[in-house]
Amino acid sequence: MTDGRVTLVSGNWKMNENHFEALKLVQELAALLRASGVPKGREVSIHPSFTSLRTVQTAVETDHVPVALGAQNCHFEDRGAFTGEVSAEMLAKLNVSYVIAGHSERRTYFGETDLLVRRKVDAILAHGMRPIVCVGETLDERSAGEAFSRVTHQVAEVLSGRSGEVVGGVVVAYEPLWAIGTGETASVEDAEQMCAAIREEVGRFAGAGAAASIRLQYGGSVTPETAGALLDAKNVDGLLVGGASLDAERFVGIVRAQA
Ligand code: 13P
Repeated sequence: MTDGRVTLVSGNWKMNENHFEALKLVQELAALLRASGVPKGREVSIHPSFTSLRTVQTAVETDHVPVALGAQNCHFEDRGAFTGEVSAEMLAKLNVSYVIAGHSERRTYFGETDLLVRRKVDAILAHGMRPIVCVGETLDERSAGEAFSRVTHQVAEVLSGRSGEVVGGVVVAYEPLWAIGTGETASVEDAEQMCAAIREEVGRFAGAGAAASIRLQYGGSVTPETAGALLDAKNVDGLLVGGASLDAERFVGIVRAQA
């Protein structure tokens, strides 16, 4: 990572941890981070399920845990007849700072399209939070030589048509589908090349300033052992961590990783 961007290490807890377990996990994180600290120039966010957000918010604020609160999804409308949904407005009221939008599991299992993700990003931004926009290609797309066109197309569909300043404040997470939950991490070269391509695409539609300040995460089977080299790559400004974020020691190992 270069150019003075603050790296962002995010823990996506997915559909794990009920609110009792979530409280235990955040307390373990608090103890470890109190002992070792978050490295300078690095930021941490944790993304519990909706039912744990209020509990985790209270714990983080009461104990001054050095992590930002994140959510995993939201609806694009503020309120209305959308049974079972949670709005960006509701998340903002819980002091949520980062909201994941368009995670591949939502695209795959819940049919989310780029257009829907774009509307969610609108709502997240309208309520003063930062979206973490997930993009990534399947193994078939990579094998067919379509990885770069697929991913840059997703980025443009969701983020183009906004001011450079807005785009520069967004986070994009490159998560190749074949690396999620598989134990198969993309090589540092793969992650770096794709993040460089995303940055170039952002420059094309939002200008050089946006390209320089937008933060690009890598996600997919990140471990404390692989995190340092990934974070050291020029265009990788952070990590989006699934499985390893459910273990406080492993997650803090990633938070503190150096090349
Ligand atoms: P894993 O780290 O479990 O592969 O998950 C990655 C991910 O999808 C984070 O959003």
